[in-house]
Amino acid sequence: MTNLLILGGTTEANALAKTLAKQGIPATYSYAGRVDNPRPQPLPVRVGGFGGVEGLVGYLRDHAITHVVDATHPFAAQMSTNAIAACREAAVPLSALTRPSWCAQDSDRWQHVPDLEAAVAALDGPKRRVFLAVGRLHLEEFAAQPQHHFLLRLVDEPDTLPLPDCDVIVSRGPFTEAEDRALLQSHRIELVVSKNSGGTGARAKLDAARALGVPVLMIDRPTLPQRTELSNVAQVLDWVAHSGVNLGV
Ligand SMILES: NC(=O)c1ccc[n+]([C@@H]2O[C@H](COP(=O)([O-])OP(=O)(O)OC[C@H]3O[C@@H](n4cnc5c(N)ncnc54)[C@H](OP(=O)(O)O)[C@@H]3O)[C@@H](O)[C@H]2O)c1
Repeated sequence: MTNLLILGGTTEANALAKTLAKQGIPATYSYAGRVDNPRPQPLPVRVGGFGGVEGLVGYLRDHAITHVVDATHPFAAQMSTNAIAACREAAVPLSALTRPSWCAQDSDRWQHVPDLEAAVAALDGPKRRVFLAVGRLHLEEFAAQPQHHFLLRLVDEPDTLPLPDCDVIVSRGPFTEAEDRALLQSHRIELVVSKNSGGTGARAKLDAARALGVPVLMIDRPTLPQRTELSNVAQVLDWVAHSGVNLGV
């Protein structure tokens, strides 16, 4: 009997969970546990890391998981790499539900950097007003550039912040271009730092930056080992229907 594990925490994972629940396909939704109040799901939910590759292999076996859909964020590289290794070891078919990267348009002013470290290095220089849209987990790295005024938008109220000069907005997307244009204007933002997450929920800041001529420091996606990549929920359903247990990935 089919029994899916969704590695979640994204809009795509939520859409998949909704469809699976509607169709009565047994599945569990997994959250890392990074936010205080994760969105409720119409499926059984588990929260927290598995304990590396070995922990995930154990989970797949203990719960008789027949398929894994990695619908994590494109920057959740550790989880995705672990999933590839664990599914190979446990002989459970794995697919990734991914979204295309954002591409610069003609009037965009993007500077590409390969990773967070390079983004931090690119901020060397005099004080600027920076919208640092990289999430809560990696703020520590940007403490190496304390001269800037940073605007942060976070899902939860932070306890402490490693950045000496910052404004914090607590809010959960999706956001509109008009909202983000107003945000960039009211905070007199001179630079947006963004991960190339793709999707619609977080792209409003890029549309707003384009409209206002604000430059963007774009952090490119990490490279992952090869895996089956699907781009929508219908493709996942088709993949589940056609990939039997123990067929490999
Ligand atoms: N990175 C981002 O920019 C971003 C943005 C939006 C949402 N998210 C979501 O936030 C979560 C964490 O992202 P991350 O970048 O911190 O991941 P990561 O660095 O790739 O993962 C670090 C560890 O967190 C645990 N983990 C991550 N995702 C998990 C999941 N869905 N279920 C159970 N355990 C999980 C795993 O722990 P063990 O090794 O112990 O199994 C993993 O090794 C993911 O669910 C992702 O979809 C991330």
